[in-house]
Amino acid sequence: MKTNRIHRTLFAAVLGLTLSAGASAYADRGEREHEDHGRYKAVENQTYKQECSACHYLYLPGLLPARSWEALIKGSDKHFGENLALDEKTSSEISGFLNANSAEKTNTEWSNKIMKSVGSATPERIMDVPWIIKEHRKVKNAFKRPSVGSASNCGACHTRGQEGDFEAVKVPK
Ligand code: HEC
Ligand code: HEC
Repeated sequence: MKTNRIHRTLFAAVLGLTLSAGASAYADRGEREHEDHGRYKAVENQTYKQECSACHYLYLPGLLPARSWEALIKGSDKHFGENLALDEKTSSEISGFLNANSAEKTNTEWSNKIMKSVGSATPERIMDVPWIIKEHRKVKNAFKRPSVGSASNCGACHTRGQEGDFEAVKVPK
């Protein structure tokens, strides 16, 4: 009985690995977009790109709930020690974009996991989302490497993250 169960688990694990390897091979050729359940769309809004990637990685809106983005924009005069000095028009355009593409609006496998794991909290960091923390348990120690800088520097490891693909990972030495 017991070995039977172990065999089944192993079989499921191997099958899972095979399937995900196949999936990324396809994804790399860009042929399977409709089946990439986890993926996000790349950002097209120019205002968001311009105002929100000067100091750091351009975070995809589907990585946080709308209320988190709202809190970030509301507090943009005290943004992690920086005053973003957004004028009325700019901040309302960015808010509209973030809200329309937030985790609860994108409905991908990842955004659903994010929504489920935040519960009623309003995280102001993607790295405060419990599911995201869990996914990075094994690479925590790499966050402080000079080649990475901090956990917020997603692009150091997710070479295609900006295109919405967090499956492609290469942790720098
Ligand atoms: C003047 C520089 C600057 C600009 C411009 C800026 N930020 Fe930031 N942002 C920061 C700093 C500094 C941090 C903290 C980074 C760290 O702890 O490594 C940060 C962190 C963040 C985080 C948390 C990242 C994490 O760890 O999950 C989010 C989300 C964020 N910014 C969103 C935005 C948005 C949205 C905009 C545009 C409205 C923006 N930022 C523009 C300086 C900036
Ligand atoms: C030090 C390298 C590193 C940094 C920095 C990093 N990640 Fe990751 N990330 C990983 C690794 C490694 C995995 C796990 C991949 C696996 O187990 O298949 C992962 C997994 C993920 C996943 C799950 C992907 C999947 O296939 O289910 C998401 C989403 C993700 N990261 C988003 C982010 C975001 C957003 C940031 C920045 C706020 C970030 N990561 C920063 C290395 C990193």
